[in-house]
Amino acid sequence: MAIIFSFPGFESIASHIASDLKITRGDMEIRHFPDGETYVRLNSPVEGQQVIIICGLDKPDQKIMGLMFFAQVARKMGAKSIGLVAPYLGYMRQDKRFHDGEAITADIFAGFLSQIVDWLVTIDPHLHRHEKLSEIYTIPAAAIHASDHIADWVKSNIARPVLIGPDAESSQWVSEAAKKAGAPFMVLSKIRRGDRDVAVSLPDVATYHDHTPVLIDDIISTAHTMIETVVHLRALSMRPPTCIGVHGIFAGDAYDRLMSAGAHRIVTSNSIPHKSNDIAIEDILATAVSAMIKNNHSHKG
Ligand code: R5P
Repeated sequence: MAIIFSFPGFESIASHIASDLKITRGDMEIRHFPDGETYVRLNSPVEGQQVIIICGLDKPDQKIMGLMFFAQVARKMGAKSIGLVAPYLGYMRQDKRFHDGEAITADIFAGFLSQIVDWLVTIDPHLHRHEKLSEIYTIPAAAIHASDHIADWVKSNIARPVLIGPDAESSQWVSEAAKKAGAPFMVLSKIRRGDRDVAVSLPDVATYHDHTPVLIDDIISTAHTMIETVVHLRALSMRPPTCIGVHGIFAGDAYDRLMSAGAHRIVTSNSIPHKSNDIAIEDILATAVSAMIKNNHSHKG
């Protein structure tokens, strides 16, 4: 038997998965006390059950205590196992020590999550220097891909697309989505000099002037990567580009700045709730959760 709970913002994805897999929808409360500490209460029994919690890990520092308290109380209440569905998995970008003394937070965070839950499902995590989640996660961890859904969105919404990835890392999404959408694609190169200082190479779009550029990246955070690329395309007199991010973090006013830079439209998956969400990923999450439940992973701690 399985039961699925949701952190705020993911109720509709949780209900969708519950109804797809015919499992119980659990009730919980999570809130912050006036002093900022976290309150968690499970209102549904979990004894002997496979417990699933859906909690996107954007702004991870605000959520991780709540997730740890949830897992602890679920275990105390007799949960057989605890699986985490994190549509966006945070702390994947600092995967190397660039300067002496830096914490490799991707590894540390993976170690911590591996202690508190028994399996993990996520969408397109930022795998760059690591090829697989299993290199840093010691629990079963499935990384599923949104490229089919991105390709479907492009096919239904853009007449003559040319897909553009702003950096080498984006080539995995862009090439897959282009193949599935039957569209041409190109991948640019990027140098990041700081959090908000990036340079992207000039796209060679001479033969694509009658196409609509579609930029695709895994994450839009400060949007500097996308803005640089949009500015190049506008300078080359290309049509206003559509920008697609699997995960729309939009730090500060990033969304507005990207629109002002000349994007025609910004589209993201619903891995992080935002007004740009137009690519629904609950069906692929449900399939991955179903496989985890069938494998019946139990707590190794
Ligand atoms: C990094 O390599 C990622 O694939 C994205 O390109 C990056 O996270 C985007 O960040 P920002 O929106 O801050 O430029």
